Amino acid sequence: MKVLVTGGLGFIGSHTCVELLEANYEVVIVDNLSNSTIDVIDKIKAITNKTVSFYELDVCDEVELEKVFQKERPEAIIHFAAYKAVGESVEKPILYYENNLISTLKLCKMMQKYHVTKFVFSSSATVYGSPATLPIKEDFPLFTTNPYGTTKLMIEKILKDFVSSQKDISVIILRYFNPIGAHPSGLLGENPKGIPNNLMPYILKVADKELERLHIFGNDYDTKDGTGVRDYIHVVDLAKGHLCALEKTKKEPGIFYYNLGTGCGYSVLDLVKTFERVNGIKIPYQIDHRRPGDVASCYADSTKAYQELGWKAELGIEEMCKDAYHFLLESKR
Ligand code: UFG
Repeated sequence: MKVLVTGGLGFIGSHTCVELLEANYEVVIVDNLSNSTIDVIDKIKAITNKTVSFYELDVCDEVELEKVFQKERPEAIIHFAAYKAVGESVEKPILYYENNLISTLKLCKMMQKYHVTKFVFSSSATVYGSPATLPIKEDFPLFTTNPYGTTKLMIEKILKDFVSSQKDISVIILRYFNPIGAHPSGLLGENPKGIPNNLMPYILKVADKELERLHIFGNDYDTKDGTGVRDYIHVVDLAKGHLCALEKTKKEPGIFYYNLGTGCGYSVLDLVKTFERVNGIKIPYQIDHRRPGDVASCYADSTKAYQELGWKAELGIEEMCKDAYHFLLESKR
């Protein structure tokens, strides 16, 4: 089966392409390189010993996108391409709404025109806002606190209406918790441009001595050590979840929602201490004020994904920390 992967050179997209190729799918990548680099194609090929088709284009560009559909005739789509920085989305909401919504609308149009019936969408736990109880289940109330999150929620609603209007389309919404880690080969990982917003990329810059110390945003939360608690999930486990989702699209039309997390909450200090221990390296840090918009704790109930997709996370926080550091070391060679 041929799968079109938008944003296939990004962090989660590239790991998913590896899993797809290893499961003998044909892969067509569309990426505009806005937060990725072209050399990722060679890395994917080196890991899998297989080739991919690649088109450098913006998914919002309908004319160019249609050429890809005409030529490649994909049978399924996994849609990762999106802007994803929470802070930037507050400063540039229109850019976020335009990019994230239009790209998805164009893909829906192409699905209708070229009879593509299988679609997997990259959503986020951000659609649960600040949940009243934990762990988070898929039927919890949906609420967003920033434009990035609102784009994800709006797209979920658009896809629901789309599915209602078509009898044979199957859409799987995957709500990710906090993806970290890297491919065990050390060839693929997360390497954001500029100063990172997220915790693990920031820790890596401190490990690399590019940044002097980590700033921990608050130690006065109602958590075991006062620092924020999140459900970190290894990116390889997350990538595998997309293959299980694709299998589901082959079985049943409709729209289905799944949390992809481990179900375990770890604090910022847990992550820092584990990183230090497994990699034998010190991460200097200081405690700062809370970051506006952060919640104290967030972790998933992923039972539904296990029951209906047969998926569950296999890798723990130690592998996440080891693989992330291994990627940093390999990228220096
Ligand atoms: N943190 C720090 N210092 C940093 C960065 C983060 O202390 O330099 C803390 C945060 O306060 C939080 C934890 O580390 O407690 C994780 O923060 P991240 O920025 O790595 O991740 P978030 O949970 O804030 O956000 C992630 C994704 C978003 C998504 C959200 C939804 O990055 O895209 O999960 O759950 F919307």
